[in-house]
Amino acid sequence: MSDSIFAFGLGIGTQNKEGNWLEVFYPAPIKDADKSALDAILESTNYTSGNDTIVLDEGDLNRLHMSLLKAGNIEQAELASRLKASTQPVVLCVLATDTAPANPAEVYLKLQMISQRLIQPHNTVLDGMFGLLVNTAWTSEGPIDVRELAERQLSARMEGRTIEVFSVDKFPKMVNFVVPTGVRIGDAARIRLGAHLGEGTTVMHEGFVNFNAGTLGTSMVEGRISAGVVVGDGSDLGGGCSTMGTLSGGGNIVIGVGEQCLIGANAGIGIGLGDRCTVESGLYITAGSKVNVLDESNALVSTVKARDLSGQSDLLFRRNSQTGAIECKTNKTAIALNEALHANN
Ligand SMILES: CC(C)(COP(=O)(O)OP(=O)(O)OC[C@H]1O[C@@H](n2cnc3c(N)ncnc32)[C@H](O)[C@@H]1OP(=O)(O)O)[C@@H](O)C(=O)NCCC(=O)NCCS
Repeated sequence: MSDSIFAFGLGIGTQNKEGNWLEVFYPAPIKDADKSALDAILESTNYTSGNDTIVLDEGDLNRLHMSLLKAGNIEQAELASRLKASTQPVVLCVLATDTAPANPAEVYLKLQMISQRLIQPHNTVLDGMFGLLVNTAWTSEGPIDVRELAERQLSARMEGRTIEVFSVDKFPKMVNFVVPTGVRIGDAARIRLGAHLGEGTTVMHEGFVNFNAGTLGTSMVEGRISAGVVVGDGSDLGGGCSTMGTLSGGGNIVIGVGEQCLIGANAGIGIGLGDRCTVESGLYITAGSKVNVLDESNALVSTVKARDLSGQSDLLFRRNSQTGAIECKTNKTAIALNEALHANN
């Protein structure tokens, strides 16, 4: 076995009546654990090798606590000790390697590592994750398998309680698992677990961030960041704007936004943007759109498809208000516009 493992997490899990995991909450997952942590796990639990998820009893947690202490891993040792008092199942998920997840515990470990900024979007294998997750009602009484909800609602009503259902989905909002430092979030329900919010990001009420996607630094997000889209430091998404997950036109190339960009209110991109690009408010750039490239004096230089400009820096896209043609010029104002928007961060 190698000297380090991809990740491990001690967590608290919820199962449905059949004993399948609905979710696991990991308060402090560890990425790239060293040999001493691995040895502590090997000597104190039933873990032997590979990617494995095991349920720990009080004895296991006692031994793990002592082994981790001996290894000098105080934080994880204290967590192991604290979890002895959990009335809910305590889970140890070890990922020796970053391969496609095999069960919900592994999916939740990876999604939480992204939201805790231990992994950037696209940097862990999530293939097949939806097929592993149970559709769950996220409620005021915790996660409930949606097939068990009606029964639980009836029982609660008979005891004078109403179960509040916040969402019905394979995984829930991020903030019930982690609130990363230095962020403001207007409407918590609009940030899914597995979103990556950089330090200094504000997501206003209209903003939305999907999983395996998000911002890397300071950003004002009032538009939608689709699954897989990563927005660079200093870029802003105006009110109601939209990012397509992939290069539009049925492609499977995931698009991204570079640094210091501004996507105007109600605009949209189906192509990637490099650094310092601006998209005029209301303009939706699909990959196949014909774009007139203009010089400084607004003379036509060439006409290209938008996909040919994907990922290039210092571009201003606008729709000519008189002809309706999409135009692209060298961008001069991106940084000044961004500074004005960040004044509130
Ligand atoms: C595209 C945008 C950045 C252009 O703004 P700007 O760089 O300040 O440019 P100006 O409005 O000063 O216009 C510069 C010139 O281009 C012309 N122009 C601007 N937009 C044009 C358009 N769509 N069609 C034709 N000409 C246009 C102006 O008339 C002006 O012409 P002039 O040189 O003859 O005076 C701006 O219109 C925009 O959409 N900003 C987005 C703001 C936003 O949505 N923020 C998020 C809020 S939530």
